[in-house]
Amino acid sequence: MEKTKDAATATGAAPAGLRGVVAATSSIGDVDGENGVLIYQGYNIHDLATHSTFEEVIFLLWHARLPTQEELDELKAQLRESYELPPEVIDLMRAFPRDAEPMDVLRTAVSALDFYDKSAHETSRAASLRTATRLTAQIPAIVAASDRLRNGLEPVKPNPSLNIASNLLYMLKGEPPSEHDAKVLDVALILHADHELNASTFTARVVSATLADIYGAVTAAIAALSGPLHGGANTNVMKMLIEIGSVENVEGYLQQAFAEKRKIMGFGHAVYKTEDPRATHLRAFSKEMGERAGDTKWFDISLAVEETVKRLKGLNANVDFYSASTYYMMGIPMDLFTPIFAVSRISGWTGHILEQYANNKIIRPRAEYTGLRDLKYVPIEERQVASN
Ligand SMILES: CC(C)(COP(=O)(O)OP(=O)(O)OC[C@H]1O[C@@H](n2cnc3c(N)ncnc32)[C@H](O)[C@@H]1OP(=O)(O)O)[C@@H](O)C(=O)NCCC(=O)NCCS
Repeated sequence: MEKTKDAATATGAAPAGLRGVVAATSSIGDVDGENGVLIYQGYNIHDLATHSTFEEVIFLLWHARLPTQEELDELKAQLRESYELPPEVIDLMRAFPRDAEPMDVLRTAVSALDFYDKSAHETSRAASLRTATRLTAQIPAIVAASDRLRNGLEPVKPNPSLNIASNLLYMLKGEPPSEHDAKVLDVALILHADHELNASTFTARVVSATLADIYGAVTAAIAALSGPLHGGANTNVMKMLIEIGSVENVEGYLQQAFAEKRKIMGFGHAVYKTEDPRATHLRAFSKEMGERAGDTKWFDISLAVEETVKRLKGLNANVDFYSASTYYMMGIPMDLFTPIFAVSRISGWTGHILEQYANNKIIRPRAEYTGLRDLKYVPIEERQVASN
C-alpha cells in the first residue's frame, strides 16, 4: 500500500543536497550567489570588512542593527568578563589525548561548558544572549588551551584588555600579537561570521528548534563544521599548498588531481557562481602577509593554483582558499584553521539560534521514500540471502 503523499513530497524528490530549497526565513545574512554579494543584516560584507570590528558584527548579528558606542562598550565588557574558562573544563581538557583533533577537542569542551552555566537550558532571549556571550567569549580560550596543552604547556590566561582576535593570538603564543596580525585576524573573523543556511548553521537551527539548549546546538554545529566539505577545507588547502611546494609544480599537480577526479579544497561553492566576496579580502591579506614577511611563496603558489583551477575547471576560490595561507603566515598551526572558523562562526550560529527560539517551529521535513513496501515478514530460520 502506498503511503498518501503529503504536501511536502507531492512535488517529487527534493534536489540533491537540498540545493536551492528555502528552509527558513532569516534577517541575519544573505548570499547572492549569482552576483557574489554577501550581506549581514542589510550591510555589505565589503563595508563591514573595511570599517567594522568583529565585536560590532557580533552585536549586529544578534540585535539586527549596528550598536551605539555605549552598547558596543557594554557588549565588549560582557565578553571580556566571560573570557575565562571554568577551571573544570581546563582540567577535563588535560585528560584528552595529545593527538586529538582540535575540532574534536572543541566539540567536547563546548559540550562540557553546559555543566557550568546555571541557565544553560533556558531559552528566553535574555538567557540565550548570556549564553551566546559566554560561548563567543570562551571558544577562543578552548582553541588556544587545546593547542597549549597538547604541546605540554599551561594555557595562557585571557587578557581582558584585548579584543577577541588579539586575545586569541595572545593565548596561543603567550605574547601580544603585532597590530597587523591582530587586525588581519579581526577582519577574517568578520568575514567568516555568518553565511546564511550553510551546513553548520542549518544544523544549529535544527537542534535548537527542538528547544534543546544552545550548548547542544553549537556542539552539533561544530561537528558539522569539522567536515572537509565545510570548514575542514581550510586545513586541507594548506596541506595541498605544502605538497605542491612551488609554482612550477602547480600545473602538474592539478592536472593529476583532476585526472583522478579529486576535489581541490578551497574551490567551488554550493551558492556562489562567481567570486566569493570573502575571498577578495583574504587574497589581499595573503599577499600582504607574504610581502611583510619578505617571502611571498605561499601567496605565489596560491595565486598560481587559483589561476590554473579557473582555467582548467572554471571554479572560483572560496573563503577557505586564501584564509589558509593567511593564517599559516601568522604562525597559526594548520589544524587550528577550522577551530578559528568556529571562533568566528559562533556569532552567526548563536544569531540564528536566537532567531529560531524567537519564532520557533520544530524542523521536521519529509523524505521521499525509495524503499520497498508490503513485504511479507519471513521467520529468521527461513530467510535466504540472494547470491549474485
Ligand atoms: C563546496 C562544495 C561542497 C560545493 O559542492 P556542490 O554545490 O555540490 O558543487 P558540485 O559538486 O555540484 O560542483 C559542480 C561540479 O564542479 C565540480 N567541483 C566542485 N567543486 C570542486 C572542487 N573543489 N574541485 C574539483 N571539482 C569540483 C564537481 O565535481 C562537479 O563536477 P561534475 O558536474 O562533473 O560532477 C564543493 O565545491 C567542494 O567539495 N569544494 C571543496 C571543499 C571546499 O572548499 N569546501 C569549502 C566550501 S566554503
